[in-house]
Amino acid sequence: EKGPFEHFMLKEIHEQPLTLRNTMLGRINDQNEVIFPELAHAAGAFQHVDKIFIVACGTAFHAGLVGSTVLEKLTRIPVQCDIASEFRYRDPIITERTLVIVVSQSGETADTLAAMQESRRQGAKVLAITNVPTSSVARDADYVIATKAGPEIAVASTKAYTAQLLAFYLFSIYLAQERQTLSTELHTKLVQGLKALPVQVEKVLENANDVKLYAESIKDADSLFFIGRGLDYAVALEGSLKLKEISYIHSEAYAAGELKHGTLALIEKDTPVIALATHMDLYEKTVSNIKEVKARGAHVMGITVEGNVGLLNSVDEICFIPPSHHLLAPILAVVPLQLISYYASLALENDIDKPRNLAKSVTVE
Ligand code: BG6
Repeated sequence: EKGPFEHFMLKEIHEQPLTLRNTMLGRINDQNEVIFPELAHAAGAFQHVDKIFIVACGTAFHAGLVGSTVLEKLTRIPVQCDIASEFRYRDPIITERTLVIVVSQSGETADTLAAMQESRRQGAKVLAITNVPTSSVARDADYVIATKAGPEIAVASTKAYTAQLLAFYLFSIYLAQERQTLSTELHTKLVQGLKALPVQVEKVLENANDVKLYAESIKDADSLFFIGRGLDYAVALEGSLKLKEISYIHSEAYAAGELKHGTLALIEKDTPVIALATHMDLYEKTVSNIKEVKARGAHVMGITVEGNVGLLNSVDEICFIPPSHHLLAPILAVVPLQLISYYASLALENDIDKPRNLAKSVTVE
């Protein structure tokens, strides 16, 4: 059932406008408020929450990184995102006022399940964001938000990731409504921004051929760097994982400002660098980091917001995403990265839907 697509991964990348619409459906009312009918039994339950942990593995962890920034910003509750296999062994401070959000496409990942069971044992309430409402994670959680991405067949996660991001945006607004921490102005901007996303993702997909050529040009690279600041850094981590998973090209994601404190020495002539610069408040800072890598001979692909042609002065190639609120940009910025990893892997003739040494869900710790 791949339809006109050569691989499930490409089909799933192209399904994202639909899966985003489905995940939003019935969750924004006529007053532009976010509603979760499935959380009706949780009324008031989040009022006393004073700490939130987000716990997940792999791509779901990367969704959690974006989620933690957004949730903390909108609700002003301290939020920390942890890798599930680390969380349970580091003795985190969990009380009855702690909310643990677990994120899992399959709902069967053993590390995530174990972390949530331990959290519940220590008195926390657990909210699961999962794509499989009948899964073990959904069954064991106190509350469940289902992502409506539909079955994801390709091992490398794409549409589940963007649905997880959307679930985080919706839940963050929902919680901020309950706690009255969101200005009317920002609330309106965010909800309008969310509603625009499916059409905007369609636009990014229409330009898939532009990134295809770039992807083919990196297929023989020894190593790549993804850089960005803030949420762009979280997206860089996901872009880097995607590329490694299916192309087997080594890459590293770096917070753009940290490169000079670490591995800047590894940037040599023609080293490919993918630089995300979608957040205009951080833009000048990111550009100065791009100049640092250019000075060492890097070949830079910049990803920025439409109209920002000034970036062309600092990069070798450019990919534009439609304008959105900067908190929502990850859903748009990740799409070219998904396509780059897909087309690089296609050029390498890899088994894209079933990459070596990876399983869709890992049910052992
Ligand atoms: C990994 C998969 O083993 O599990 C990743 O290969 C995935 O693609 C991770 O992101 C987490 O899976 P899940 O189902 O818990 O989201």
